[in-house]
Amino acid sequence: MYDLVILGGGPGGYMAAERAGARGHSVLLIEKEALGGVCLNHGCIPTKSLLHSAKLYLHARDGEHLGIKFKDGQYDLPAAMQWKQKTVTQLVKGVEYLMDKYNVEVVHGEGRMVDRRTLAVREETYQGEHIIIATGSRPAMPPIPGIESEYVMTSREILQIDQMPDRVVIIGGGVIGMEFASFFSCLESEVHVVEMLDEILPVMERDIARAMRKEMESVQFHLEAKVEEIDENKVTFSRDGNTSTVTGDIILMATGRRANVEHLGFEQAGMDILPEGIRVNEQMQTNLPNVYAVGDVTGKSMLAHSAYRMGEVAVNVISGERDRMRYGAVPWVVYTLPEAAGCGLGEQDAEEAGLQVKTAKVPMRVNGRFLSEYGNAGGFCKVIV
Ligand code: NAI
Repeated sequence: MYDLVILGGGPGGYMAAERAGARGHSVLLIEKEALGGVCLNHGCIPTKSLLHSAKLYLHARDGEHLGIKFKDGQYDLPAAMQWKQKTVTQLVKGVEYLMDKYNVEVVHGEGRMVDRRTLAVREETYQGEHIIIATGSRPAMPPIPGIESEYVMTSREILQIDQMPDRVVIIGGGVIGMEFASFFSCLESEVHVVEMLDEILPVMERDIARAMRKEMESVQFHLEAKVEEIDENKVTFSRDGNTSTVTGDIILMATGRRANVEHLGFEQAGMDILPEGIRVNEQMQTNLPNVYAVGDVTGKSMLAHSAYRMGEVAVNVISGERDRMRYGAVPWVVYTLPEAAGCGLGEQDAEEAGLQVKTAKVPMRVNGRFLSEYGNAGGFCKVIV
């Protein structure tokens, strides 16, 4: 019997393992792929490596006014992919090192829940005084006719391409959609974003989202667009009763993510599952005694740093400390070009909560550093009180 058995080695799971191990608990971590989860292997880290290289390329190409003459420059995708892989490998090794350092036992294989104290991997069962579920999420695939087309990729497969596409169609103008729109447009692909709402990036303030959309001049946005079907490399959508078709060498589905809760024995073990994920309280406790859930699988704040904090809260509670998870000031960053970041309640949310709201906006170009780097480019800083 271990003090703690954790299912899933992404940011939520490995942080919980590290913290619990550091406190002297006996810990077992079950992971079916590489440690680090989606964030390190197929998400945050690889996209940031690629985005950085694409932005460098664009800044160099357009940097003549800064004194950079860039003749016959090329973007070398295989080299950028190698850089990305090197970064990923180093970070995964870092997590392996931490597990070792804090005496966390790691079992590689697909785990499932047998009962509220027992997890199984293949024929082997493992018992824990406490269990933390951190099985993450996967791309949501809406029921669009033709979605099985070989041109359709998710954010996972698109990180393995070996050739730059001339044209990319991105379905969904959220965080994933816009980060890839930036990547491909920096590298001169024709990019179409098809978004069903009337503005991109629903996670952020509308005025910031609108400003970002305006700044991304080379991307073609199709807002309030209902995707009707995908036929091979063509995406047909309707808008105001009119139908249009756009074509891509790649069609990226970026329409949100779904918690991984199915076929893992959770429901059979009696766990409460909501449409967005496992139901948890502020202590990350599920309805089953001594069973916790952290990270994307809860469907709350699908961000790696939120998962870290949830993992920390669960371990603190398991260790007998008072702690709770709060979501009111989770910082966010969108690593597009231009970037945007924020923290706290938005203007609209604050108004909807019945608060008296004051806002102030300052254009970024009054800031000396911004002006030195970007000249009179748009962008602003907004404070909401
Ligand atoms: P998202 O929820 O941010 O955006 C999905 C978008 O797709 C929304 O704008 C939605 O209106 C649209 N959409 C949904 N169905 C559609 C349809 N049938 N046709 C057209 N548009 C449709 O989800 P996304 O971008 O997939 O990201 C998933 C999660 O990953 C998010 O929680 C996000 O916060 C996280 N993430 C965070 C990053 C960061 O912090 N920098 C980077 C990448 C992902």
